[in-house]
Amino acid sequence: MCGIVGYLGFREPLPIILDGLRRLEYRGYDSAGVALNRNGCITVRKSAGKVAELAAQVESNPEYAGARAGMGHSRWATHGEPNDVNAHPHVDCTGRVAVIHNGIIENYAALKTQLQHRGHVFASATDTEVLAHLIEDFLRTTPDLYGAVKASLREVRGTYGLVVMDAHAPEVMIAARMGSPLIIGVGEGEHIIASDAAAIVAHTRQVVYLNDGEVSEVRPDGMRTSTIFDVPISKEITNVTIELSQIERGGYEHFMLKEIHEQPETIRNGMRGRLRVEDGEVKLGGLEHVRDKLVQAKRIVLIGCGTSWHAGLVGEYMLEQIAKVPVEVEYASEYRYRSPLVGKDDVVFLISQSGETADTLAALREAKRHGATVLGIVNVVGSTIPRETDGGMYVHAGPEIGVASTKAFTSQLTALGLITIMIARAKGLPREEANVLTRELASIPDKVARVLAQSDAIKQLAQEFKDSRNFLFLGRGANFPVALEGALKLKEISYIHAEGYPAAEMKHGPIALIDEHMPVVFVVPKDAIYEKVLSNIHEVRARKGQIIAIANEDDTEIDKLADHVIRVPRTYGFFGPIVNVIPLQLLAYYIAVARGTNVDQPRNLAKSVTVE
Ligand code: M6R
Repeated sequence: MCGIVGYLGFREPLPIILDGLRRLEYRGYDSAGVALNRNGCITVRKSAGKVAELAAQVESNPEYAGARAGMGHSRWATHGEPNDVNAHPHVDCTGRVAVIHNGIIENYAALKTQLQHRGHVFASATDTEVLAHLIEDFLRTTPDLYGAVKASLREVRGTYGLVVMDAHAPEVMIAARMGSPLIIGVGEGEHIIASDAAAIVAHTRQVVYLNDGEVSEVRPDGMRTSTIFDVPISKEITNVTIELSQIERGGYEHFMLKEIHEQPETIRNGMRGRLRVEDGEVKLGGLEHVRDKLVQAKRIVLIGCGTSWHAGLVGEYMLEQIAKVPVEVEYASEYRYRSPLVGKDDVVFLISQSGETADTLAALREAKRHGATVLGIVNVVGSTIPRETDGGMYVHAGPEIGVASTKAFTSQLTALGLITIMIARAKGLPREEANVLTRELASIPDKVARVLAQSDAIKQLAQEFKDSRNFLFLGRGANFPVALEGALKLKEISYIHAEGYPAAEMKHGPIALIDEHMPVVFVVPKDAIYEKVLSNIHEVRARKGQIIAIANEDDTEIDKLADHVIRVPRTYGFFGPIVNVIPLQLLAYYIAVARGTNVDQPRNLAKSVTVE
C-alpha cells in the first residue's frame, strides 16, 4: 500500500527519497510525490503514475537541489481518484506545513468543515489534506511543530503513519504512528523515516519501530518520542537483519520469479533448527511457553486474508487429521465484526506475510479482548502482529517483494506442518509415526526443486492458454485450498477470471461453464480420494473442457484423461499442497508474462493491505 520515505541529515535528500520510493514500489501505488525544504520554503512535486515519471520531473532539476530535508510518498488511492492533486505530499493553504500519510482519517469530513469555517481552503479530495491544515491551525497557538502535531492528532480518529515538515523548521521532522507502520532509521548525523525497512537498509541497519499512539521529533543528530498525550517514551534501537541482496532481483526478470525459485531454500530456512528429523520432534522457541495451552486447546482458530487464509485452510487438514484438534478457519475481515464466540480455551493463530494487514490485526485484537491465547505465524520480522501476540513463529521466507504471495505461502504451510507435528507429539503420537512425518517434511525442499526444474514446460503450456478468458481450478481435501490459491494467483497477475472449487462441487453449478473454451486445472495427487477426482475429470472431459492435471510422477492413468499433465512428486501427510502449488504459481507467472502485465505490481493491488 502507500509508501513513506523522509530524510533529514547532511546528504542531499532527493536521491535518497527517490531510491526509497523505488524500493517501496512493490507495495502497490498509483501516484507519487516529493516535498523538499529549501531555504525556509517547501517545494512540492506530485505526479499520477509511477515513481519513474516523478523522477523524470525532479532529478537533475536545480529547483529540487540543495534542500535541508525532504520526504516522498507513493499513494494507493482510498479517498479521491489517483491524480496529481490527490497525490501526497499535501500542504496547508499557507504552504508552511507539508504531510505524507498512510492510513485513513475517519473523521476528516467533520474536521474539514470546521477548518473551512475558519477560512482554510482545500485543494484535494483526500482525507489526508485535513492534517496539513489542522497542524498549521495549531501552529498559530502552539510554539513548535512537535506540539502542534500532537494537538492535531488528539482531534483525529483513524489510522496513520504520518510524516510532517514545517517550512520554518528545516532541522525537524515529525513522525507519528497509529495502525500503519513507521520505522526510523538511525544513521551518523542523519535519520530516515520509512513505512518499510526496504527503504532504509541501503543506508543503515539501526532502526527504531514506532508503536501506535507514539510521535517522534526527529532531528539529524537525535530524536525524542512521546505519546500523543505528551508522556515521554524511551525507544530502543534494534538491528534489521535483512540483506540488500534479498530485496533486489538478482538476475531474475521479476521478483515473483525469483521468489518462486527461492522456495527450496526458504522452506528449508523455516525448518532449520526446528525439525529434529530422526527423533520425530519439533522445537519451536516462540511457542514453547504456550505448549500446554496448545495441547489442551478445545479449539484452534486460524485467521488470515487472501493467500494467508488459504494457508489456514490447509492447516485445518493438518491439525485436525494429525494433531486431532478441532479447527476453524476464518476470514479476518469477517471475524472482526461478528462478535465471535471465542474465549480462554481457544488458541487463535493469525497468519500473515506482512504482519501488518489491518483486518488481521483487528481480528487479533478482537480475539485477545475475549481472552483467547493469540499467536502469530508471520514473515516480516518486527511487524505489528508479532508485537501484539502472546507468542508465535516467524516463517523465515525473507522479504517478499512480488505483490502475489508465493514463497510466503509455502513457508506458512511449512510452519503449520511444524506446529501440527509439535502438538501431535505432545499429545502422544508415537515417535515412529512422527518420524514418518518429519522425514516427509524434510524431503519437501528437494521435491519443490524437482517441480521447479519443469519451468520450461510450464512456460510453453502458458503460451497455449494465455488468451483464455476464464479458468477453473479444482481439487479435493487439502488440495482444495491449493485450487483456490492457483485461481487467486492467476487472477491477481494475469487479470484472467479464475475460480477455485472443491472438485466435487463442480456439478452443483460451475459445470454449466464447461465447454471447449474452458481450461480446467485439476490438482489430482494419488491420495485416498484420487478415484473420486478422476470421476470429476471424466465429467469435464465429457463436456469437452480442456484438462490440465497436476498429477504424481508415477500416475499412468491420468495421461488417458488429461490434455496436459504437470508431474509432481508424491508427498504424504497433508504436506502435498506445499509441492502441488508450485506448478500453479509458475503457470500464473508465465501466463501473466505472456500477456504483458505488470507481474510484480499488478493493477489495483497492494502488497500489504493496511486499511480496512
Ligand atoms: O500480508 P498478509 O499475508 O496478511 O496479506 C494477506 C493478503 O492481502 C495477501 O495474501 C494477498 O491475498 C496477496 N496479494 C496474495 O497474493
